[in-house]
Amino acid sequence: MEKSEMRKDIDHILISEEKLRERVAQLGEQISADYAGKCPLLVSVLRGSFIFMADLARQVQPFCQVDFMAVSSYGSGTSSSGQVNIVKDLTESIEGKDVIVVEDILDSGNTLSYLFQLLKARNPASLKLCTLLDKPSRRSKPITADYVGFTVPDEFVVGYGLDYDELYRNLPYIGVLKPQVYEK
Ligand code: PRP
Repeated sequence: MEKSEMRKDIDHILISEEKLRERVAQLGEQISADYAGKCPLLVSVLRGSFIFMADLARQVQPFCQVDFMAVSSYGSGTSSSGQVNIVKDLTESIEGKDVIVVEDILDSGNTLSYLFQLLKARNPASLKLCTLLDKPSRRSKPITADYVGFTVPDEFVVGYGLDYDELYRNLPYIGVLKPQVYEK
């Protein structure tokens, strides 16, 4: 499938490549200032955050480490249910480390509130959340992010890592999917 083919399924571009680049650079600057003299561990929650993680990590100035986790939430269609399954755990211990969880989207908060409970129990020195997108209108758990790229409306967004049915992750921008694509 060509990118131009994918474009036909996109109603409109919500966040352009240029806006993503600018905002990710700002987030990198903010994190660099907050963690100056430290060595934060960036934890990417796969799969949605892989592109954001790669771009953000290159904007972080101090020494940093990276690790990856994969989780799946059992939910139907467009929302998660709160039951989270660890598909791939971190490679190393986070005890005593300054951990920043890097996510693509904070939606109901089910995934992140479960994950934060799990990670807190492993005694990191600190634990923060950096999410590219925040959809506060859908929140069902009391969780807020420490770093937010963009607050987005309750629309079906894809691209820059985010998928529908495992597709569209490789779009370089964030777009709103045409409803007829997921209502099929
Ligand atoms: C997305 C996203 C978060 C979660 C947020 O992952 O990466 O982990 O949903 O939703 P919540 O706040 O309602 O829990 P998804 O389950 O789509 O998997 P993916 O990262 O592999 O795309």
